[in-house]
Amino acid sequence: MQSFAVQHGSQQFLEQQIADPQPNEVVVALRAAGLNHRDLMMKDRIGNQPDIYTLGSDGAGVVEKVGSEVSRFKIGDEVIINPSLNWYDKTSAPPDDFRIFDGTFAERTVISEDFIEKKPDHLSWTEAGVFTLSALTGYRALVTLGQIKRGETLFIPGVGGGVVSFIIQLAKAKGAYVITTSRDPNKLKQAEILGYDRAILTDDNWEEQLADEEIDLVIETIGGATFNRSLGVLKKGGRIVTFGSSTEDQFTLNLRQFFYGQYQLFGSTMGSREELRELLAFCEQHELRPLLDKGFPFTKIDQAFDHLSGQTQLGKVYVVM
Ligand SMILES: NC(=O)c1ccc[n+]([C@@H]2O[C@H](COP(=O)([O-])OP(=O)(O)OC[C@H]3O[C@@H](n4cnc5c(N)ncnc54)[C@H](OP(=O)(O)O)[C@@H]3O)[C@@H](O)[C@H]2O)c1
Repeated sequence: MQSFAVQHGSQQFLEQQIADPQPNEVVVALRAAGLNHRDLMMKDRIGNQPDIYTLGSDGAGVVEKVGSEVSRFKIGDEVIINPSLNWYDKTSAPPDDFRIFDGTFAERTVISEDFIEKKPDHLSWTEAGVFTLSALTGYRALVTLGQIKRGETLFIPGVGGGVVSFIIQLAKAKGAYVITTSRDPNKLKQAEILGYDRAILTDDNWEEQLADEEIDLVIETIGGATFNRSLGVLKKGGRIVTFGSSTEDQFTLNLRQFFYGQYQLFGSTMGSREELRELLAFCEQHELRPLLDKGFPFTKIDQAFDHLSGQTQLGKVYVVM
């Protein structure tokens, strides 16, 4: 069986899990898997572990085998992986044993039945394979923490990102007015399909360009390079949610400006199973689908990693098994 692992050690452990799943586990034969920014970082974080470590958090496929106590699924069911492990209810922070699933860059993966959901009917295999991590992260940031309301204005820089492109669609379906940015004018043109209301270049002077807007909510994923500029366009008393720092983690914040502005800052990461189920129902109702950038055959996954690293993407990069 093929898998994409940081350490190409023995395949025995993986083969054993697949041959003999635990009572609550299912074996999923993957049809497509999505790449995330996280996969780029995990390659370095894993280091020199002796055991094989298969990357990949997003995926969709068919249940091929079920453990003796599995009750929600049967062989042949079409499912998506929920990589947000051990976080069941919509709590204010994930539980101590929360972790993110890795293992979808493989022909088969093994996971507890608690962390798979039925594949939404309106999504293709590739759309389903890239869906969960980005969409769930976006949902918690925009809806649970950001509390977006119909008629409010959202500012969300960096349209090229897989999460950002999904949040724009979600925000439009929630009735918000959406302003985005990109470093690349061509991406802004292509991203019109997402339905945003207004776009400016990331290199523009945001305060000048957006002087006529009253921004209620900012979702900031770029990090140090843009955080203060994002805060600069937020209305006094407005909300800012962050879950990413594609550039620097650390930067200087003017605390006096922050507290005089009465801003509200929320940190977010992934989301719970309860939120995923809310999101799936909302997406089915509104037929929302993730924006696909480019796909590669699983055997060419190295090229998919190179493509994601190049930052030319608009939407999700994926592999097909
Ligand atoms: N905490 C969590 O649970 C969680 C979950 C998912 C993602 N994340 C994080 O959220 C961030 C976004 O994720 P993603 O998958 O959407 O990332 P991505 O596909 O890598 O996109 C990031 C986007 O940010 C913009 N950007 C990057 N570097 C920039 C720079 N130096 N200056 C200005 N803009 C820049 C780019 O937009 P343009 O090309 O349009 O300019 C780029 O497309 C990442 O940092 C990721 O690690 C966190």
